[in-house]
Amino acid sequence: MKTLYTFLLILLLGLAAAHQDGWTHLQPPYPKLQKRGTFLTNSTSKFWVNGTNIPNVDFDIGESYAGLLPITSKANDSNQLYFWYFPTTNPAAGNEILIWLNGGPGCSSLLGFLDENGPFTWKPGTYQPLQNSWAWTNLTNVVWIDQPVGTGFSVGKPTITDEIMLSAQFLGFWRNFVRTFSLQGWKVYIAGESYAGRYVPYIADAMFNTNDTTNFNIQGTMMNDALISDQTTQYFIPEVAYVNYWNQLFRLNDTFMQYINEAADTCGYTAYMDEYLVFPPPSNPANITLQKCSSLSTEIQAAITLKNPCFDLLLITASCPLLWDVIPPPPYPGYPVYNSTGTANTFFNIPAVKQAINAPADVVWEECTSRNVFVHRIDKSPPPDHGVYSRVIERSNRTVFAHGALDMILLANGTLLSLQNMEWNGAKGFTSQPSDEFYVPPISGLNAFNQAGSGVFGTTHTERGLTFLTVDLAGHTIPQVAPAASYRYLEFLLGRIDSLNSTEPFTTQ
Ligand SMILES: *[C@@H]1O[C@H](CO)[C@@H](O)[C@H](O)[C@H]1NC(C)=O
Ligand SMILES: *[C@@H]1O[C@H](CO)[C@@H](O)[C@H](O)[C@H]1NC(C)=O
Ligand SMILES: *[C@@H]1O[C@H](CO)[C@@H](O)[C@H](O)[C@H]1NC(C)=O
Ligand SMILES: *[C@@H]1O[C@H](CO)[C@@H](O)[C@H](O)[C@H]1NC(C)=O
Ligand SMILES: *[C@@H]1O[C@H](CO)[C@@H](O)[C@H](O)[C@H]1NC(C)=O
Ligand SMILES: *[C@@H]1O[C@H](CO)[C@@H](O)[C@H](O)[C@H]1NC(C)=O
Ligand SMILES: *[C@@H]1O[C@H](CO)[C@@H](O)[C@H](O)[C@H]1NC(C)=O
Ligand SMILES: *[C@@H]1O[C@H](CO)[C@@H](O)[C@H](O)[C@H]1NC(C)=O
Ligand SMILES: *[C@@H]1O[C@H](CO)[C@@H](O)[C@H](O)[C@H]1NC(C)=O
Ligand SMILES: *[C@@H]1O[C@H](CO)[C@@H](O)[C@H](O)[C@H]1NC(C)=O
Ligand SMILES: *[C@@H]1O[C@H](CO)[C@@H](O)[C@H](O)[C@H]1NC(C)=O
Repeated sequence: MKTLYTFLLILLLGLAAAHQDGWTHLQPPYPKLQKRGTFLTNSTSKFWVNGTNIPNVDFDIGESYAGLLPITSKANDSNQLYFWYFPTTNPAAGNEILIWLNGGPGCSSLLGFLDENGPFTWKPGTYQPLQNSWAWTNLTNVVWIDQPVGTGFSVGKPTITDEIMLSAQFLGFWRNFVRTFSLQGWKVYIAGESYAGRYVPYIADAMFNTNDTTNFNIQGTMMNDALISDQTTQYFIPEVAYVNYWNQLFRLNDTFMQYINEAADTCGYTAYMDEYLVFPPPSNPANITLQKCSSLSTEIQAAITLKNPCFDLLLITASCPLLWDVIPPPPYPGYPVYNSTGTANTFFNIPAVKQAINAPADVVWEECTSRNVFVHRIDKSPPPDHGVYSRVIERSNRTVFAHGALDMILLANGTLLSLQNMEWNGAKGFTSQPSDEFYVPPISGLNAFNQAGSGVFGTTHTERGLTFLTVDLAGHTIPQVAPAASYRYLEFLLGRIDSLNSTEPFTTQ
């Protein structure tokens, strides 16, 4: 998957218009559902999805609801967000719901659904969608939401210029969602990936700020390879150290390695790492002057790509050939296009798929839209590590930040640099380096498609309400490549296990 969940510009032309005809309107008496069916009421029936009627999917995906809801109390508001909601059958879930958000800005959360954590996944290189043994819906109620306005199947006109406005629109939508599904008082968890590292803390903060636990009973958040600082901190500064670490894989020659290490010294990156990536951090704020060295990164990527033409920043171990995908990559210059013999269409643009999941028929779905979801592409909010993330951690019971070690879009050391420079719950950074073992239990009897690694999967550390962990064999999209690991830290977020070094079996086994 070469999908960009991040802040890279996409070249596709986006079309989206307000429209909501073509929904399946069920009339009472409602069909008998195979599973719990508790959510089927007069107000939810128009969102009901027939679980045996998804094109290409040859099994029952269970009870779910999808469609559009407005971002304000005005029922006729033309700005509406698209959601796909799956109640869980896990009795341990109780009255709680997890929101999943992809990044971009402008990437659809259905990407995460189909590639990472949904009840069925259709991963790159596989020829049909299959049941996902690691579906997050095994653990709790989950809703995938296309936001902000202009993203995925959401409709309307983007008007926002910062995360405060984004949050206000999201909360407007969420109030309608709670009313529609009668979720008053339910515990809310928010998880996001990549650029959603900016959405998650701002939305959670806005929810806490309402004091309205009827509609916004926010409990905790989860970050997956997420942007909480800036590209300099989370990418440029730690980049050369990262290349040094992985050069047994990249195989860059000594001359080039010497050149980039000297450049890292000149740019101030080496000194910055030495000074601030320490545990505990120095008390003074970061004060090393960095030089403008933006071409260094371009040179590094060019050198790696020279050796490995299929090099993928999302997962540095990827190699040729690039796999065919029902979510085709954007047409980057020079990027080869592979077609399947059967489905040459993007899964979510198949008309029968749109109809089955109550998506607006006239919206051309794009994995990451080329529209400006922020007016003029400007998101004016300060990065979350400038205050908002701390406020959210301080008011949550559990906050999880997971980072894949094979990700070269955002670097784990960069996230740690940011956290070491951030103050929460009365102190700055972590006092000791993450060193507890993050353990993923084994599970037997899975089919080949759902195989996933187990054992010690990285290191973790919890301090003052924040849990950081690295996931060894995952890149930017952890639930796609290391689904068992992501399932495990979701168990932790939800309070089902006490710590990530626990060797207890999965709670669902
Ligand atoms: C649901 O709709 C049916 C038929 O339209 C109606 O008879 C019934 O009273 C409604 N129930 C509620 C709780 O509104
Ligand atoms: C659900 O879809 C299946 C397969 O298309 C169909 O046989 C069934 O009648 C549908 N159920 C309802 C309630 O529409
Ligand atoms: C929505 O309804 C309100 C009140 O009925 C009306 O004033 C407004 O013009 C409508 N807006 C749109 C976009 O149709
Ligand atoms: C929420 O509660 C806090 C603390 O009690 C208070 O300072 C704040 O004004 C309240 N906010 C709203 C919107 O009621
Ligand atoms: C935190 O955990 C305590 C004890 O389990 C619980 O009573 C409380 O409601 C939780 N609060 C939040 C915000 O999660
Ligand atoms: C992360 O930073 C530490 C300290 O500078 C360094 O020893 C380590 O090699 C770095 N790891 C990676 C993967 O860059
Ligand atoms: C910069 O930080 C270092 C410690 O990290 C400190 O020794 C030095 O005095 C600081 N310099 C300034 C100008 O603040
Ligand atoms: C070393 O790598 C650099 C960067 O890819 C390349 O330009 C150079 O030709 C290489 N040198 C040798 C001797 O292979
Ligand atoms: C292959 O994909 C390209 C780009 O999406 C499309 O233009 C072309 O028609 C496809 N060819 C076949 C045989 O499906
Ligand atoms: C797991 O982590 C907790 C908290 O850091 C620690 O107290 C405990 O000793 C660790 N257990 C193991 C088996 O490492
Ligand atoms: C998820 O649920 C399915 C169906 O009950 C089960 O087969 C699978 O083992 C569960 N996955 C995990 C990781 O427990």
